[in-house]
Amino acid sequence: MTDRTTPAATPPADPNWWRQATVYQVYPRSFADTDGDGLGDIAGVTSRIPYLKALGVDAVWLSPFYPSELADGGYDVADYRDVDPKLGTLEHFDALVAAAHQAGLKIIVDIVPNHTSDQHVWFQQALAAEPGSAARARYIFRDGLGADGATPPSTWQSNFGGSAWTRLTRPDGTPEQWYLHLFAPEQPDLDWDNPEVRADFHTTLRFWSDRGVDGFRVDVAHGLAKDLTEPLRDANPKDFGLPIDGSDPLYDRDEVHTIFEGWRDVFNEYDPPRTAVAEAWVARERVSLYARPTELGQAFNFELTRAEFDATEFRTIIESNLELAAQSGASSTWVLSNHDVIRHPTRYGLPATTDGDDFVSSQGTSPALDEVTGLRRARAASLLMLALPGSAYIYQGEELGLFEVADIPDDQLQDPVWTRTLHERKGRDGCRVPIPWDTTSPAFGFGTHEPHLPQPAWFADFAVSVEQDAPDSTLSLYRAALALRHDVQSGEDLHWVSEVGSPVVHFSRHDGWHSVTNFGTSPAALPSGTVLLASGPLETSVDGSAMLPGETTVWIRAD
Ligand code: GLC
Repeated sequence: MTDRTTPAATPPADPNWWRQATVYQVYPRSFADTDGDGLGDIAGVTSRIPYLKALGVDAVWLSPFYPSELADGGYDVADYRDVDPKLGTLEHFDALVAAAHQAGLKIIVDIVPNHTSDQHVWFQQALAAEPGSAARARYIFRDGLGADGATPPSTWQSNFGGSAWTRLTRPDGTPEQWYLHLFAPEQPDLDWDNPEVRADFHTTLRFWSDRGVDGFRVDVAHGLAKDLTEPLRDANPKDFGLPIDGSDPLYDRDEVHTIFEGWRDVFNEYDPPRTAVAEAWVARERVSLYARPTELGQAFNFELTRAEFDATEFRTIIESNLELAAQSGASSTWVLSNHDVIRHPTRYGLPATTDGDDFVSSQGTSPALDEVTGLRRARAASLLMLALPGSAYIYQGEELGLFEVADIPDDQLQDPVWTRTLHERKGRDGCRVPIPWDTTSPAFGFGTHEPHLPQPAWFADFAVSVEQDAPDSTLSLYRAALALRHDVQSGEDLHWVSEVGSPVVHFSRHDGWHSVTNFGTSPAALPSGTVLLASGPLETSVDGSAMLPGETTVWIRAD
């Protein structure tokens, strides 16, 4: 093992810092714009480190900030070892790491290994090279089917709609091979059977680790290994979910795990070892495979992003994920919102059966959004999440209680989902609108120029400057919760107090800590003890005793 220490890290470094961390996801292009081009930048993130410190998070995860033509919000990376000039320079990045470490915050960067941008030098070389060349062997090029090769090599579909294959044309107009892209055509998939691809990502992991990065978020971790045996067989239809025996040709194949074992060896070259969290949209019982200590160490549990506001659903998800994490040796993760899903106050304010895509496609008009219910439930769910053992991943603006911006004009949409589905689905721009910092500056303090996605007028009500001094604001709730959470996260215990099937989800942690959520709509009895924090006002019953209203969470310390 090479001894690589990080000059910028704050000693003494705890190798287990990630197990119970609160990680704040920054979508850099929409966080803070210091150079007035309408796009957030690295210096903008640095300028907000004091805000993040005061919020009480432990780590900051940066969505991609690498050079990119933004065909997919930066998840189309043209160079894995540089900063997009629109966002700054490597010096800006180093300054951010230094400022974060100075404030005691860790930095996690997003790594996108399934595909590069079509602007990446490798893909440009592949385009200029002949079929069968070493340059093409880094990607997945195939001849088309049929006498003229005009039929795609397989039926595989892009996650953004349409075929996952695009055909190349020579400069003289002659059609030639097809290449695979599980996402946009500007995101060609790499061939992870190619040793050069594997080695290059090790170089990238070391590049950022050497710059003081503490961990990595691994994009589409379940997609790297593919069964490319000819003839290419059909993939499992997405509607039916992935088979749990690892037999899909495209996702969650057993071979993927050897790739991450290799990554673990790189992480362990460092002191403390670098951490990682897998984005793997796979069956619950297979998520924890990615989280084994011999692999990435942690994996996102996205189940709460899909759950209704329902006691039984929450309890089942909590119980099973804690159990799986314990089996794998990881700690569990919890996510209510991120840059790919509809913000949770909006989800909870729509009737249970609503398809969020339909709501966004109706410009946020149908069905009607019940904002009061949505925010009340969101605050209750957030407080519950923050009481759980494991890592909580929160998404920028979540701490302000922001709703999805569902009425972005069609001509300003950026998500490739919009064009790839032929304008059927609007995509994810509604949760990526730049953050409102204040109410008096242009762009609500995001920057001096018109932001790259339009901010609605109602953002004024959610600005940091408005919420920071309001004791009942969602920002105040998150700040108080994160301050208290540091005590409760000194252990990974959880004991159920409520019965399965009850509308109340009540568990205790060590030292008399209790978290009680009333998922119902009528008030429930409030357990005795000192109320530490509540997601909404408590009620008093006729006999004068305090009650826990519906759709509310309370933290209590037993007397
Ligand atoms: C992941 C990212 C998403 C991106 C996709 C392709 O799912 O979270 O934003 O579009 O990968 O890179």
